[in-house]
Parts: sequence; C-alpha cells; structure tokens
Amino acid sequence: MTDATRTATLTLDGKEYSLPVLSPSVGPDVLDIRKLYGEADVFTFDPGFTSTAACESAITFIDGDKGELLHRGYPIEQLAAQSTHIELCYLLLYGELPTAAQLADFTGRVTKHTMVHEQMHNFFRGFRRDAHPMATMVGVVGAMSAFYHDSLDINDPWQREVASIRMIAKLPTIAAMAFKYSVGQPFVYPKNAFSYAGNFLNMCFAVPAEDYVVNPVLEKAMDRIMMLHADHEQNASTSTVRLAGSSGANPFACIAAGIACLWGPAHGGANQACLEMLREIGTVDRIPEYIAKAKDKNSGFRLMGFGHRVYKNFDPRATVMKESADEVLGLLGIENNPTLQVAKELERIALQDEYFVSKKLYPNVDFYSGIILDAMGFPTSMFTPIFAISRTVGWISQWKEMIAEKNQKIGRPRQLYVGSPKRDYVNIRHR
Ligand code: ACO
Repeated sequence: MTDATRTATLTLDGKEYSLPVLSPSVGPDVLDIRKLYGEADVFTFDPGFTSTAACESAITFIDGDKGELLHRGYPIEQLAAQSTHIELCYLLLYGELPTAAQLADFTGRVTKHTMVHEQMHNFFRGFRRDAHPMATMVGVVGAMSAFYHDSLDINDPWQREVASIRMIAKLPTIAAMAFKYSVGQPFVYPKNAFSYAGNFLNMCFAVPAEDYVVNPVLEKAMDRIMMLHADHEQNASTSTVRLAGSSGANPFACIAAGIACLWGPAHGGANQACLEMLREIGTVDRIPEYIAKAKDKNSGFRLMGFGHRVYKNFDPRATVMKESADEVLGLLGIENNPTLQVAKELERIALQDEYFVSKKLYPNVDFYSGIILDAMGFPTSMFTPIFAISRTVGWISQWKEMIAEKNQKIGRPRQLYVGSPKRDYVNIRHR
C-alpha cells in the first residue's frame, strides 16, 4: 500500500479531521478517506465515481488532459506500432515485456487452450438464432464455470493462472461461435497455425466448403483493434469485474459480469450504436439535422462515438485507429462508401462546432473501429463481442491484481439515503 506523503485537513462542525494524502507514481494525489466514516460519522458522495479511486493498480495509466494511455508504463502508440496483442497480453498480465522465449512459451500456452469443451456446442444450440451475440457470450462465458472445474479456486495462484489463459484463449472461439450460430453456419474449430487475430478471422469467415485466406493487412488491423481495447484502467466493465470478484466469485462469472456491463451503448456498445447512427444519417446533407439533435438536451440524442469520461483532449487510441481505418479501406478500395463519407464529414463538422469544441467532445476509439469492422465484413452485432475479446486480458489482469492483494475487501459502496424515514406498517384496509 502507498504511504502518505502529507495530510489534508477537513473541518466539519468545528472539528478537524486529518486525511492522509497518497501520491501515485504518476498522476494527481489521492485523499485517503478510508477512516473518515469511523472518525467523523460522514460518508462522501460521488455517483459515477468521478473523483473516487476504488483501488490501487499498477497496470494502466491514463492522463485524460494530455491524451496519454500507458500500459505498464509503455505508451499505447508505441505498443500499437511495434508490438502484438499477444505480447500486450503478457505485458498486462505479468508486468514486463517478455523475452523471446517467454513470448513463445506464452503464445504456445494460449494457442493450446483455444478449443472449447465439445459439450459447449450443445449449449450454444439452446439459444435462439436471432439472439445478439453479446447475449450468447454473457451466457456461455458464465457457463464456463460449469465446464472448467479445475480452475475455479480463486485462492490457488495456479488455478487463477489457468483460468486466465483459458479465457484469453477461448473468448475469440466463443465470440466466433456466437457469430456462426447467428448466421446459420457450422462452427469453425480454431487452428494453431494462425496468429491470435488471424485465427479469429478464420473462425468467423471460413466455411467447410471453402478455405478463408487471411489477408495480412486485415489481420494486422484486427490485432490493432484488440490492442487498442485491451485495457483502460477502472472503466465501468473493469470495475464491474473487480466488484464481482471482490465477493470471491469465480473468474468466469466475473468476466461474464464484465461482458454484461460492456454491452451498454455508453460503453462497449457504442461502436455498434455509432455505425447504426452513421447509416441512419445516410447522406452528408442530413448531418446538420443530427448535429442539432445532439445539441438539443430534450432530444435525448447523443452523437455516438464522440466524448469520453476521461479523455478531454483526444483519445490516443482514436488516432491509431484512424490510421488503421485508412489502411483497411484503401486495401479494400472502399474509401468512398456513403457511410464513410458521412463519418468523415461528421468528424470534420463536430471538430469545428462550438458545442463540441467547448465540451471537449472528440471522436473516440469506437468512432473508427466500427468503420473498420464493417469494412471487414462483420455485422454491427459483432462489434461489441470483438471489444469483449480484446478487453478480456484487461479484465483478467485487473482481477488477478485484486485477488493477489493482501488486504482485499468486498466492494460495498455506501449511499445518500433520500427515502422515507422509519414509519409503521398500515394494514391494507386502512390505506
Ligand atoms: N453528444 C452530444 N453531447 C454530448 C455527448 C455526445 N456524444 N457526450 C457528452 N455530451 C455532453 C453532455 O450532454 C453534457 O452536456 P452538459 O454539460 O451541457 O450537460 C457534457 O457533454 C458532458 O457529458 P457527460 O455525460 O457528463 O460526460 P460523461 O463523462 O459522463 O460521459 C460518455 C462520457 C458516456 C462517453 C458520453 O460522452 C457519451 O455518451 N458519448 C456517446 C457514447 C460513446 O461514444 N461511448 C463510448 C465511450 S468510449 C468506450 O467505451 C471505449
């Protein structure tokens, strides 16, 4: 646990309380209020956790004002340009970049766990064909705890390790199976000769009647999408995983909880919502109508793919993703498709518009990822499952970090109660 560097003083009803100030390795100082309730009999109020750190973590650092994202200290731009998703998984899980031998060993372990228990195929078949793949994934990942009994003991470091590798390895298989099931095609088994991203593309697009040739540009773009979504410190789904895990729930159940949270349109569901919005706008001449709607508080409409809770300058992932979008669309020769034209024009207008500029609403990573995935041939319903595959390593790394903490406690927020004070029950005849 970090030691206090100095103290802050809180004066309440004439009494003074001393609050230790903790200094992180980078970033703003943190007031330690853990003893506040015991000493002063008050809670703090922070819905949405805009000013509250819920844990110590050494995995990811974000500076929202500078538009900086570091994993274990390494900038995302450098990782996206020089590393691979599988190497990033190692870095997030174990804290350091691997040597060549460590990377080969880790890649081998992940690759050898990509198949799912054959009986899981039956489990898929219980779902309706038109189920959203995220609905199927929440169910199937939760059900992994019914299939892998030998990696459920959270107090055994080896079982935690095996569960982690299993989830990183099997989530692409499960997402691809959910996709295949929804389009009525047979499941495609994983192939160890492919890379992590290439294997996922193959499981999605190969059919028994015809091999799928993995295009290296698309494979690299998919790998990048995975890297750019791998971890993002204490976002909603990661906090959900930590909260679920804090009760001692098994890792598969915790990741299923994270997937459920990710599905929301304000979080991982934004890439699907964004592309659907671009299609609904349809043509460039309708953009002003949508910009006006986004500014109108009564409309309840937001420009999907714009804005971020933490980034108030730019989203560094969006910059890399934009480059990838140009590459992929160039390769596929579809730079001029109508959705893309709407996206480009919307981006141009929003970046100049006073409302968006003053509120610091920039295109986020999801604005571009949907465009790439659409060009690759994925239906919009697969966008969030791909985010889930990518984020699995972040969830698992954060979960492992939490479980390994010595004084880990169950998460239990307090509340500002605004309901009725105590009153007596009234018999139904007298109400
Ligand atoms: N379009 C129009 N106005 C917006 C948008 C938007 N996309 N986002 C925020 N605003 C406005 C709000 O109305 C608010 O205005 P006000 O100050 O006049 O009331 C102001 O900007 C601040 O917005 P908040 O909702 O308070 O910001 P918060 O940090 O809570 O929300 C969020 C961030 C949820 C991402 C929000 O910007 C949003 O809904 N964006 C669209 C959905 C999206 O793209 N989500 C993806 C996030 S990235 C990810 O999960 C990988």
